[in-house]
Amino acid sequence: MSKGLFVTKPVQASPHVDAGEPVEGSLQGEVTLKRTLTGTQLVMLGIGAVIGAGIFVLTGHAAAAHAGPAIVLSFVLAGVACAFAGLCYAEFAAMLPVSGSAYSYSYATLGEVVAWFIGWNLVLEYLFAASTVAVGWSGYFNSLLGSFGMALPASLSTAPLNVVEGKIVYTGGLFNLPAVAIVAAISTLCYVGITQSAFVNSIIVAIKVVVILMFVAFGLQYVNPDNWVPFIPENQGPGQYGFDGIVRGAAVVFFAYIGFDAVSTAAGEAKNPQRDMPMGILGSLAICTIIYIIVSLVLTGMLPFTQLGTPKPVATALEAYPSLLWLKHVVEIGAIAGLSSVILVMLMGQPRIFYAMAQDGLLPKIFKRVHPKFQTPHVGTVIVGFVACILAGFLPIGLLGELVSMGTLLAFATVSIGVLILRRTQPNLPRPFRVPFATIICPLGAIACLYLFWQPFREHWPLMTGWTVIGFVIYFGYGYRNSKLRNQA
Ligand code: ALA
Repeated sequence: MSKGLFVTKPVQASPHVDAGEPVEGSLQGEVTLKRTLTGTQLVMLGIGAVIGAGIFVLTGHAAAAHAGPAIVLSFVLAGVACAFAGLCYAEFAAMLPVSGSAYSYSYATLGEVVAWFIGWNLVLEYLFAASTVAVGWSGYFNSLLGSFGMALPASLSTAPLNVVEGKIVYTGGLFNLPAVAIVAAISTLCYVGITQSAFVNSIIVAIKVVVILMFVAFGLQYVNPDNWVPFIPENQGPGQYGFDGIVRGAAVVFFAYIGFDAVSTAAGEAKNPQRDMPMGILGSLAICTIIYIIVSLVLTGMLPFTQLGTPKPVATALEAYPSLLWLKHVVEIGAIAGLSSVILVMLMGQPRIFYAMAQDGLLPKIFKRVHPKFQTPHVGTVIVGFVACILAGFLPIGLLGELVSMGTLLAFATVSIGVLILRRTQPNLPRPFRVPFATIICPLGAIACLYLFWQPFREHWPLMTGWTVIGFVIYFGYGYRNSKLRNQA
């Protein structure tokens, strides 16, 4: 007899696992993912996924339009919400080192239909984020080509469609070639192996962190403290400065934090997940938070905030000082590197979430096929890469940046609630990492994320509803009938 929609997947404490030992997909004869990632590599994966378009593109607009110099406080606010959620992710990922991230944690706590809903939202976080960031990458790349007089024509670097004031308009472009090329190249890397992907990611992360530190070191000399006065400009309407503006700014720069949770999708490939998952998630989050606060302080100190509202605020701040012009190109290279690693980790994460969903029967079996030699979910990687190429190349995905944030906020809130539920339903499960003061931290994490989801993004509710409806059509068309758990005798 089949079970209800809210059936929960029993949680078994994972035995301690070491490199090479499979935890999931360990059916006889089945090829499994490979446990090779170290703690440092996991921290690097987190930083790789986090530092990208948020700081290199969005900070300026958030400061100019919403928070002023108090954008620093917006980063603190969003960072605190993420820290609460990060602690909850750390507890789950150490206890359940599987690749499904928030999807798997929801399945264990809130039931199948909620797990599906969260898994579907994670597509927004991972697949759509990869495409969104690829379009940002294309902009920086083409601008760098332009510095050498080799810029691609607009027809080959612009999507054919755009959304202007709620209407779809034709831009005259054919497709965004650099965006498609970067997604295709990175998908190929993800196909070949997790070790190779993690290695390339570590190099890229080193480049972007060095570039950011250079910006801070040189920019600091040009900071004029007068630019920080008033630190919180007077409110001028909804979301414009004052406390309201700080909150709206936090919702915008929340995008900058997205990705630390991607570390949890590599839990199935971590050598020692019980120890290294908390380190990877919380370590990368802490490092990125510090970097963001320092960068936003320097940025708003170098130029009056009203002049920062450009798509390249870091380059804009440098352009104001002729003696720093040389650093502008270095920053562009750093941004290109930064955005590449975000695309890489997002394109690694999505097939692994699909892999977990296919293991449970909620997606077709093809998503759980693992390459016999590379031990990667190769078919899922190709499918995700293909769809991401189409989105990045052809669709107006500018507005999807906000949908990415909404999907992620929902996942964070669910994980925060899930920790509390599991503490009640299975108090005796071994927990290698425990959220401190969980009865306070978990509800605060959920409330902070739901507030950021609900308040600033109200205009996108109809789109979110449409996305959810499509998800449920797929669930009832496939997952509902094929769920392994529901159809167990
Ligand atoms: N946090 C990532 C970025 O800012 C998604 O690009």
